Amino acid sequence: MKRFVDKVCLVTGAASGIGRATARRLASEGANVAIADINEEGLRSLEAEFAASGTACVVLGFDALDEASCRALAERTVARFGRLDVLCNIAGACRADHFLELRLADWDRMFAINVRSLVAISQSALPHLIASRGNIVNMASASGLCGAPYWSAYAASKAAVVSLSASLAVEFNARGVRVNSVCPGSVNTTLPGTYSVPTDVDTNAMQRLFPMTQPAAEPEEIAGAVAYLASDESRFVTGMAFNIDGGQLC
Ligand SMILES: NC(=O)c1ccc[n+]([C@@H]2O[C@H](COP(=O)([O-])OP(=O)(O)OC[C@H]3O[C@@H](n4cnc5c(N)ncnc54)[C@H](O)[C@@H]3O)[C@@H](O)[C@H]2O)c1
Repeated sequence: MKRFVDKVCLVTGAASGIGRATARRLASEGANVAIADINEEGLRSLEAEFAASGTACVVLGFDALDEASCRALAERTVARFGRLDVLCNIAGACRADHFLELRLADWDRMFAINVRSLVAISQSALPHLIASRGNIVNMASASGLCGAPYWSAYAASKAAVVSLSASLAVEFNARGVRVNSVCPGSVNTTLPGTYSVPTDVDTNAMQRLFPMTQPAAEPEEIAGAVAYLASDESRFVTGMAFNIDGGQLC
């Protein structure tokens, strides 16, 4: 299946986990890829992989907390490839707290990385996506749909991603741009190692968040859904929040 031949796809969070798997999947289906992340070492190793397989690729270091670097991503992609067809906003961060101890500065940081950056990146990408009749796939989370004890800031930021995606889907539908979000449950990536879980938590509540009946998904499984939503196969799908959670929300 080669659904992205002659397409240009910009993938944030491409240095690791779901973003890396997505960039690989899109490239394997013929895409030219712009890979963006704060972790330039991770990007360089992916670039080397792509060079070996003959995939055209541009490496874009950026910090989701920095508006100017977010706004530059689409232009840097178009400067290299001349067009932009797909934007996958996958970079994100997570944290967990007892709600009564959550500092507003940490709440703001969660929203800046997970939501505010998507606004800046999407605003600069949309003129190019309108020109190509392209689409956006945003990485949300199952927690954004059902809430998550101790992950209140993260879950609320992902709920905002779902809502932002649906709003843009309606606003840009007549201009030919689709916008969808993906809501994974637990995925086997390095993300859980990037923050600490508070002690003294309610294990019953935790059981709801991480049902033990299913092992975590692999990043490639999430990348498969992103690729479907980014492809013309989903031409009639927009404004969707696509759950991949092993039954968490059943
Ligand atoms: N792993 C899970 O269980 C899970 C579940 C649901 C949703 N998600 C979402 O999937 C996305 C990818 O996460 P992942 O699980 O692959 O984890 P990951 O840690 O492997 O990937 C996150 C990527 O985002 C990048 N990033 C973080 N802060 C950044 C910043 N300030 N600027 C630029 N890049 C930054 C990291 O360098 C990393 O490459 C995130 O949005 C995450 O919230 C993950």
